[in-house]
Amino acid sequence: MTENRIPLAGVIGHPIAHSRSPKLHGHWLKTYGLAGHYIPMDVAPEDLEQVLRTLPRAGFVGVNVTVPHKEAALRLADFVTERAQRIGAANTLGFGADGSIRADNTDGYGFMENLRSGAPDWDPEDGPAVVFGAGGAARAVIAALAEAGTPEIILTNRTRARADQLKEEFGPLVTVVDWLQAGNVVEDAELVVNTTSLGMVGQPELRVPLDGLQPGALVTDLVYAPLKTRLLREAEAAGCTTVDGLGMLLHQAVPGFAAWFGTKPQVDEAARAAALA
Ligand code: ATR
Repeated sequence: MTENRIPLAGVIGHPIAHSRSPKLHGHWLKTYGLAGHYIPMDVAPEDLEQVLRTLPRAGFVGVNVTVPHKEAALRLADFVTERAQRIGAANTLGFGADGSIRADNTDGYGFMENLRSGAPDWDPEDGPAVVFGAGGAARAVIAALAEAGTPEIILTNRTRARADQLKEEFGPLVTVVDWLQAGNVVEDAELVVNTTSLGMVGQPELRVPLDGLQPGALVTDLVYAPLKTRLLREAEAAGCTTVDGLGMLLHQAVPGFAAWFGTKPQVDEAARAAALA
């Protein structure tokens, strides 16, 4: 890239219209008075490789990738961070001056930062975490909790085989419990996490009985539309601490923005409002 070129970044998905990232990055660019642009790009899977190889030549310094490109982007990358490798998917790509692609995954980082700022008294080492779901988001959450020293992860998923697969990858730290038994394990939890799409606008509710929850437990939902899911409402009513999922979306965006535009942005009320606008 030549000097004085305005850095370009964006998010690639298929579809992409729903993405909140352009509003968030646009807000930060404006707030910090930085030169740069962040744009949504709808790219079909068969075009991903060609687009990623071309963007650096057009002045792009990196991109976020979202559904359905997270695994493909990892495979196409020239360099992969350890955490992206562990998760098996990328969400943040940096382009080298020679057009090389470095793949990172900041979902687990975003998850942990969201809990650290939303529930500062929670210590991941304090006790077991119960995780609902075994998709890509669960993988990032489990990897982050494992790294933070959570002593036990109780995993439950509608399709048991996917949970068993994660257990195989993450080892004895993970215990798999049948989906229909999920309500029986929450009583041991210091942390409960929903990584499924249940509870999202237009999706069925997550219907796990929560009567066993300890009042001191922390409950978080990766679903952020609505902001206050039924899970969070019920947890609140049971006296638990709750953290909504919007913060994870905001925090996972921080490393990319910092690398591309040179300033580490703040996750604050204004950033939340911008992402929700
Ligand atoms: P993501 O990358 O967001 O995790 P995903 O890999 O498609 O997306 O995973 C979606 C998760 O939501 C899975 O755990 C899925 O359960 P299955 O593995 O059984 O498909 C869960 N999920 C989606 N719809 C569900 C439903 N109606 N009931 C129970 N779980 C559901």
